[in-house]
Amino acid sequence: NVLILDFGSQYTQLIARRVRELNIYCEIHPFNKLPEDLSAFKAVVLSGSPFSCRNPEAPQPDLSQIKGKIPLLGVCFGAQFMAHNFGGEVVGSNTREFGRANLSFIKDKEPLFKGILEQSQVWMSHSDSIESLPDHFIRMASTSDVLNAAYRIEGEDTYGIQFHPEVYHSKDGAQLLENFLVHIAQVPQTWTPSAFVDMTVADLKEKIGDDKVILGLSGGVDSTVAATLLHKAIGKNLHCIFVNNGLLRKNEFDSVLDQYKHMGLNVKGVDATDLFLDALHGVSDPEQKRKKIGNSFIEVFDDEASNVKDATFLAQGTIYPDVIESISVNGPSATIKSHHNVGGLPDFMKLKIVEPLRMLFKDEVRRVGAEMGIDSKLLGRHPFPGPGLAIRILGEITKEKVSILQEVDAIFIDALREWNLYDKVWQAGAILLPVNSVGVMGDERTYEKVVALRAVESTDGMTADWVDLPYNFLQKVSNQIINRVKGVNRVVYDISSKPPATIEWE
Ligand code: XMP
Repeated sequence: NVLILDFGSQYTQLIARRVRELNIYCEIHPFNKLPEDLSAFKAVVLSGSPFSCRNPEAPQPDLSQIKGKIPLLGVCFGAQFMAHNFGGEVVGSNTREFGRANLSFIKDKEPLFKGILEQSQVWMSHSDSIESLPDHFIRMASTSDVLNAAYRIEGEDTYGIQFHPEVYHSKDGAQLLENFLVHIAQVPQTWTPSAFVDMTVADLKEKIGDDKVILGLSGGVDSTVAATLLHKAIGKNLHCIFVNNGLLRKNEFDSVLDQYKHMGLNVKGVDATDLFLDALHGVSDPEQKRKKIGNSFIEVFDDEASNVKDATFLAQGTIYPDVIESISVNGPSATIKSHHNVGGLPDFMKLKIVEPLRMLFKDEVRRVGAEMGIDSKLLGRHPFPGPGLAIRILGEITKEKVSILQEVDAIFIDALREWNLYDKVWQAGAILLPVNSVGVMGDERTYEKVVALRAVESTDGMTADWVDLPYNFLQKVSNQIINRVKGVNRVVYDISSKPPATIEWE
């Protein structure tokens, strides 16, 4: 178990992911909320920070129970903080140093650099530099611009590095983390999907006993994996509810429901299309749509849940990035769209919450799903927003518009699969625009809808870039859409990145 102390760096989550990739379990805690029992941690990593350690308002972690007692690695701010606090000198550089640099080793055979060659490329991102090291700090490496790029403290397993081993551009970063965690701190590499499944199933059994649990399935990866874990633990006492809000992809409700049944899940499908579309009648504001859909969902779900007698738990597919976001140093970030808040269901449901995926990153959720034998096609599905097609129909929603968009979307997504492009794209879909344009079909003038196609590359949805899909692919898809879908006479492709655009149009 590894503790990562967060000082608010944009890279903190990345450190955690790199550690997990070594099959080592780790947790991120804000620097000012140390876990009470530190004995569970075999190593500690200090993250970077947007603050300079010379700023009086900079984070001031209390390392008295850590430094010299548990192997410790300070990254960027973490390294500067230790140097500054123990008698060294940290100064502001004239320019922010950002980008590639190459390491020269001062001392050979340092265990932290085992297997890493001279001139190894590292990634810098800092505006302070450690000018001089305190006594007993031993310089291990420099770069052409940074004298003290890496140090250790004599007689301790304490290390500081100015560069960021967690980012992709630090070529040997993973090796360095492995050296620190596995060879120096001797943390066991036992965090594997199968160990996670065994451990979680045992925990769930103990926590839930013979009680009943309710879970809302969405067809997405997280809720499906959460349900499968719970099913393994408590079998038929898991009552799943899968709501059709009428805004899913074409045929999705039936085909996913079928899949769930084949997986042996105790699932009830509820078709509430009319209720949702009625609630959305006349609504065109994006946030209003989300509210209406959220409220309708609660109404339907609450109704169904009350049919499950004596349920005591509500299960959710919350994953680690949501948890980190809600407890991070900087607090949850500004609301751009309301889904970015971690909301729960209302109090009146009075159920205890169980979240079996709370500590997993998305890629780990997929690996755990694969470990349990969930179909790879289901696990590889693109993310799909909770409000579904409602936020891809700009303006007012009608049944007719939903069915037009479902047809367009199905042609696009099927073609991506056919052309083996589906897995190269992080998320894709079609958007129905609230404008008509003039066209000509046969000898007739048409005046019909425009659709936009969107396909993006991303790792977490926070930033995204449009995908350079082949022209002949776009041409085929555009032809098929216009020829087959009545009511559409024009197709455009969205070439905006996020930021400044967002992935969805609403
Ligand atoms: P944006 O549009 O904010 O989307 O760039 C980022 C990711 O979030 C999804 N998204 C939502 N998911 N409820 C959800 O469950 C929502 O209201 C919602 N809005 C956007 C979007 O599909 C993308 O994956």
